[in-house]
Amino acid sequence: MSDKIKVGILGATGAVGQRFVQLLAGHPWFEIAALTASDRSAGKTYSEACSWLLRGGMPAAVTDMSLIPTEASAIPEDVRLLFSALPGGKAGAVEEELAVAGFAVSSNASAHRMDPDVPLLIPDVNPDHTALIRVQQARRGWRGFIVTNPNCSATHLVCALKPLHDAFGLTAVNVVTMQAISGAGYPGVASLDILDNVIPYIGGEEEKIESEPRKLLGTLSADGVAPADIVISAQANRVAVRNGHLEAVSVKLKRFASLEEVAAAFTGYRSEPQRLGLPSAPDPAIILHPEVDRPQPRLDRLAGNGMATSVGRLRPDALLDYKFLVLGHNTIRGASGGALLNAELLYVQGYLAA
Ligand SMILES: NC(=O)c1ccc[n+]([C@@H]2O[C@H](COP(=O)([O-])OP(=O)(O)OC[C@H]3O[C@@H](n4cnc5c(N)ncnc54)[C@H](OP(=O)(O)O)[C@@H]3O)[C@@H](O)[C@H]2O)c1
Repeated sequence: MSDKIKVGILGATGAVGQRFVQLLAGHPWFEIAALTASDRSAGKTYSEACSWLLRGGMPAAVTDMSLIPTEASAIPEDVRLLFSALPGGKAGAVEEELAVAGFAVSSNASAHRMDPDVPLLIPDVNPDHTALIRVQQARRGWRGFIVTNPNCSATHLVCALKPLHDAFGLTAVNVVTMQAISGAGYPGVASLDILDNVIPYIGGEEEKIESEPRKLLGTLSADGVAPADIVISAQANRVAVRNGHLEAVSVKLKRFASLEEVAAAFTGYRSEPQRLGLPSAPDPAIILHPEVDRPQPRLDRLAGNGMATSVGRLRPDALLDYKFLVLGHNTIRGASGGALLNAELLYVQGYLAA
């Protein structure tokens, strides 16, 4: 019998849920034991209900698994960890119900990200924020808990900002995103809206990109996180790219740094996932491109198996101090891969012990 930790995926048939299935196939520590979806799909097998979108085909281990309803009473008791790929509106109450029932929930959804006692986590950035789990359990009386990963654009933005914030301090960030269609889930944006087009609005996105980095880069105290004192301005656009969000970023630093020092901060950055050797951790986590026309979504989104953040076109900025491009995979590191890396950190830190 396998001694791997049994895990479930909530919303397993969607764009992010399928990535969870793909990334968990053959994982050294976790094994899929439950898949949930909406009432429309519950009772069907995974292959009947799921229109598989990813290269490499559906893993054989899940094709005949029955989808179960997304509720605590339906999930087998030996499942310890649940990855949530539920739509935002559904996630809030269901994830709470599951944490009350004793499950550890690693969520992609935005519902609980900004709750003061819920860790908003990137293991490369703020691995110490998992300490909020015990605050959350004590305050709410839960046996289980919820941790969240950030919005997909905020994830790669903050992975790139962290070395600069550590080395020089940040006071202001301006970011303009060019976000892939898969960020809208499946079937996502209608082809007649996005082909030959750029849509200069993504509902709720700019607010998330402006607020989540301040919590991620904030300072942990006994009862929460004091947000980092950084002014962030974001403009979000949807572009006709399948996967990979590109972001044009300008930053103002607290103290002077030369171009060489900024470049060295990116290339020299190592953090907890690399030190711990977490199975999904990219090494390096940040790739700095010297070419004038990189990073590009088609060429660079799968760097580090989709877990790395690519940075390029680093140069001085006439308005702030420096500007550069950031690129990252939105459904891997920006969603399922990020939640999986969070779970790997929780495992090593002892939060998934039976
Ligand atoms: N796409 C991205 O790049 C990305 C990045 C970061 C975060 N996220 C977040 O991740 C979550 C999932 O996004 P997605 O793109 O995978 O969405 P999606 O493709 O629309 O998939 C939604 C999943 O949730 C299930 N579902 C829908 N309504 C439900 C209900 N009432 N009860 C239970 N299950 C229900 C669906 O099952 P059925 O097949 O039965 O309908 C499906 O499995 C969202 O919160 C999103 O904001 C997405």
